[in-house]
Amino acid sequence: MSTKDQLLMSLKAGKGSWVSGEFLGRNLTISRSAIWKHIRTLKDEGYIIESSRKKGYFLRQMTDSLLPNEIREGLKTNVFGKRDIVYFRDTDSTNIRAEHLAAEGAPEGTVVIAEKQTQGKGRRGRYWFSPSGEGIYASVVLRPRISPHEAPKLTLMASVAVAETILSLTPLRVNIKWPNDILVNGKKLAGILTEISAEMDRIHYVVIGIGVNVNMPCESFPSDIRNLATSILLETGEVSQRITLLRTYLEWLEMYYEMFSVGGFHPIMNRWKQLSDMPGKQIRVDLIDHTHEGVVQDIDEDGFLILKDHEGNLRKIISGDITLC
Ligand code: BTN
Repeated sequence: MSTKDQLLMSLKAGKGSWVSGEFLGRNLTISRSAIWKHIRTLKDEGYIIESSRKKGYFLRQMTDSLLPNEIREGLKTNVFGKRDIVYFRDTDSTNIRAEHLAAEGAPEGTVVIAEKQTQGKGRRGRYWFSPSGEGIYASVVLRPRISPHEAPKLTLMASVAVAETILSLTPLRVNIKWPNDILVNGKKLAGILTEISAEMDRIHYVVIGIGVNVNMPCESFPSDIRNLATSILLETGEVSQRITLLRTYLEWLEMYYEMFSVGGFHPIMNRWKQLSDMPGKQIRVDLIDHTHEGVVQDIDEDGFLILKDHEGNLRKIISGDITLC
């Protein structure tokens, strides 16, 4: 453990009381100026620490940043986030960073987090609004032993994990719009972008990225998405702890991934169906060069959408943009 982390541990162990500089210096065998340097770094990381010549140091408030050590504390997973959490204050896209790491051999369960993304990627080449400190932008590297055509199931699995997270920590009612939009009161609260590297019959790795709008006030959203997007803050009127949401998501994701890995997609699909009210809905599906309209019949065992068009034909929709009519 680094000296800075030991110092932080001593301040946390102080449990709401002052910890003298002399005590810290003696325990960590460092000089007063070294203590001061580490305190400054901790303050830069968002911890609120008071200092007094006489009394020493007082940890007034934990950081709101999604720092790896803070995430690991109390994280109840076996693999996800246990070994590698890569943290950025500011990066282009956590999916891009996770893909690079995965291509270099990063193990399954590697988590990439950013406080802010400058090129957050949405589905179908869209951008994902990613302001600093207000949302969760996280990507997880998976190395599933499945064939590439099964990869869409992982997206549905991740959308169930996000929905479970929101349901377990907030009073909100969520609805999943196929394949992976998490909606609250008809507006988008979270999205999932799954990217894969594969050969015909073998997946090298999968990156599952989630974006969750947590503490964005209304004016934070750009005008083009203000009517379409929402945040937990806007829906509940309360600020949420992003770190608790992130830990809970990793726990749900790992639980469902373990289930998936032993061949249990059926219960995940059933849960997805419970969380979605798509069947029976009249929709339009925009594909790259054409459009289908019809009524959703079901989601099949592969996670594909079954649509009955106006002529009564059943169509299997593998991907596309859905608009509720
Ligand atoms: C969607 O269009 O609904 C998917 C949005 C996915 C956004 C997340 S934010 C973290 C990860 N990194 C990205 O660049 N995109 C995903």
